[in-house]
Amino acid sequence: MNRLQVLIPTRAAPEMLQALAAHDELEIVAPGNLNVEQLHKALAHAHAVIIRSNNLLDAAALAQAPRLRVIGRAGSGVDNVDVQEATRRGVVVLNTPGANARATAEHTLAMLFAVSRHIPAAHDSLHAGTWEKARFLGTELRGKTMGLLGVGRVGRIVAQLARGIGMQVVAYDPYVPPHADDPFERMDLPVLLSMSHVVSVHVPLNEQTQHLLGRAELAQLPQGAVVLNCARGGIVDEEALCDAIESGHLAGAALDVFEEEPPFGRRVLRFPQIVTTPHLGGSTREAQGEVGRRIAQQVVAYLLRGELQHCVNPHAVSSPDGAPRGT
Ligand code: MLT
Repeated sequence: MNRLQVLIPTRAAPEMLQALAAHDELEIVAPGNLNVEQLHKALAHAHAVIIRSNNLLDAAALAQAPRLRVIGRAGSGVDNVDVQEATRRGVVVLNTPGANARATAEHTLAMLFAVSRHIPAAHDSLHAGTWEKARFLGTELRGKTMGLLGVGRVGRIVAQLARGIGMQVVAYDPYVPPHADDPFERMDLPVLLSMSHVVSVHVPLNEQTQHLLGRAELAQLPQGAVVLNCARGGIVDEEALCDAIESGHLAGAALDVFEEEPPFGRRVLRFPQIVTTPHLGGSTREAQGEVGRRIAQQVVAYLLRGELQHCVNPHAVSSPDGAPRGT
């Protein structure tokens, strides 16, 4: 039997491997993290590839994958995939929206607490043998206003959690329609910015959201505000953010994502007021298991039965180049 090859050039959760292993028609190739050169080579025989945010599937990578039928994105953001090129080649792109939303929302709150109470700097100071209570005077969150940019799956959970600690929540989202049980008040962006002590972004990265929080928008925030980004690097203008922290206009920021990942050598790592984590939003055991299981099932459903679930480019199946690939 000619088996269909599923390549997983990244960390694979046991739930993902289990869901794939149940199908004899599939050959699973899971070499762990591959660099660009290794990935391009490995794509030559793949009918499906399952990736996370650290794998780039641009036009150059897709050109190395003549048999590819489906890209499974174990997560929600597809900004690391050239979706247009995939569509042209008849390759469908699937993702798992919502499967790690709770994890990302909880991480956003963790980052908010960390920056408001200077936890990373205080931890480092104590480990360095100092006891600096006055230096780490914090700010309470109850009664403060959180402005959300984006109220999709993650933004909504962040809103509930923020309200749970007594924050007032306002939101801007021109795409998600209002709902009767929205746990926030909607506003235009300039009004939201002018009243938010904390602003948190929860939108995908695309042409419309690139530098959504740019120099002009950051300047509209109240003095001493805090910026959170656990969505995608590039939504917040990092240079403008650093300038706003340096000038004292903003009190701090917490970033889980960066314009370049990893952000080694970049200015954003030089400020103790900017709390950083290495794109950990979706990294909980629960979320990784759920994301892995769901994307494996979706890839199997398409490869073996032609069923599309959470497909970001359904036109790929009818694209002129979308003829069935050879085995
Ligand atoms: C996502 O897009 O789902 C998150 O960024 C988590 C990730 O893939 O690392």
